Amino acid sequence: MKAFVLDRYASRPALRLADVGMPPLREDEVLVEVYAAGVNQLDAKISHGEFKRILPYRLPLILGHDVAGVVVQVGARVRKFKLGDAVYARLDDLRIGSFAEFVAVKEASLALKPQGLTMEQAASIPLVGLTAWQALVEKAALAPGQQVFIQAGSGGVGSFAIQLAKHLGATVATTASAANADFVKSLGADIVIDYRAQHVEDLLHGYDVVLHSQNGKTLDASLRVLHSGGKLISISGPPDPDFGRAIAASGFVQWVMRMLSAGIRRRAQKRGVGYAFLFMTANGPQLREITALIESGAIRPVVDRVFPFDATNEALAYVDAGHAKGKVVIKRK
Ligand SMILES: NC(=O)c1ccc[n+]([C@@H]2O[C@H](COP(=O)([O-])OP(=O)(O)OC[C@H]3O[C@@H](n4cnc5c(N)ncnc54)[C@H](OP(=O)(O)O)[C@@H]3O)[C@@H](O)[C@H]2O)c1
Repeated sequence: MKAFVLDRYASRPALRLADVGMPPLREDEVLVEVYAAGVNQLDAKISHGEFKRILPYRLPLILGHDVAGVVVQVGARVRKFKLGDAVYARLDDLRIGSFAEFVAVKEASLALKPQGLTMEQAASIPLVGLTAWQALVEKAALAPGQQVFIQAGSGGVGSFAIQLAKHLGATVATTASAANADFVKSLGADIVIDYRAQHVEDLLHGYDVVLHSQNGKTLDASLRVLHSGGKLISISGPPDPDFGRAIAASGFVQWVMRMLSAGIRRRAQKRGVGYAFLFMTANGPQLREITALIESGAIRPVVDRVFPFDATNEALAYVDAGHAKGKVVIKRK
């Protein structure tokens, strides 16, 4: 089959279009013909080698975490899916590879594609949708009437998280550039802060939850937005000891994580704020909850650009540039 392969980590990687063997199918997996693949910052970061210690991939590697497609083969122990099912998924770490014609997907990570979505729209959802779900529902238990600050509302995670937080009944503040203010308002944001001209910590106070996705400078600003007892959930680091334990990292890596997060954990504790790092994971049952929200009309996919399969490198570079408005998708079929 054809696939885009990463041969070596690089600051500007060029994936190589190669003829490779079909992915080996395990008993608890289905083989999916890829119709569309979502492109994520995680693909770009892995290609730069940023996740070498956490995700020890062997190169050459087929990138791609999000897939929408059709089941063409079913493993011996698979019960919930059959040939011909239209499905979507965030692939499991160390089992990625949707920038290809076919990919093997764990049954436990898979869901039926939402009715009424195109394959491209469906492929835009899993990683960012599950990130928002695991941050706002699982970790924060966001409740009606609470106030949440979601950074970078115009990005892949932000555009989904705003809609989810509104569905959960929260008041939503977000950051965006002035050009994207109307866009994030159309997704439901109540308060929009121009991140290039204003400081969030001057404008937002007493918030319950922050979904942090930017750099160290904005992390401290995020901290000051919260009231004592509030929750700071970061998806862009630094990783904390709980995460190190959850992924059973080596003693050295756990020590590094403890050191990297010592400052923010200390400053958070001083303010009575809970700090947690989230590294989202594949999860079929949660994806089915998201499917229901999409089918009910509570959440809609936001696709910025669709690239043809041949232009996979261009799609990755576009995401890597960091200014996508919603999601970027590769269409194969
Ligand atoms: N830990 C996890 O599980 C996890 C999961 C998903 C994502 N992430 C991380 O979360 C971050 C966001 O991911 P994403 O997929 O949403 O990225 P993305 O789609 O590439 O984000 C692009 C958007 O961010 C906006 N933006 C850039 N800098 C900003 C700033 N300083 N303040 C506010 N908005 C800004 C851009 O708006 P303009 O064009 O107007 O600048 C653009 O619309 C990435 O670092 C990603 O790696 C982590």
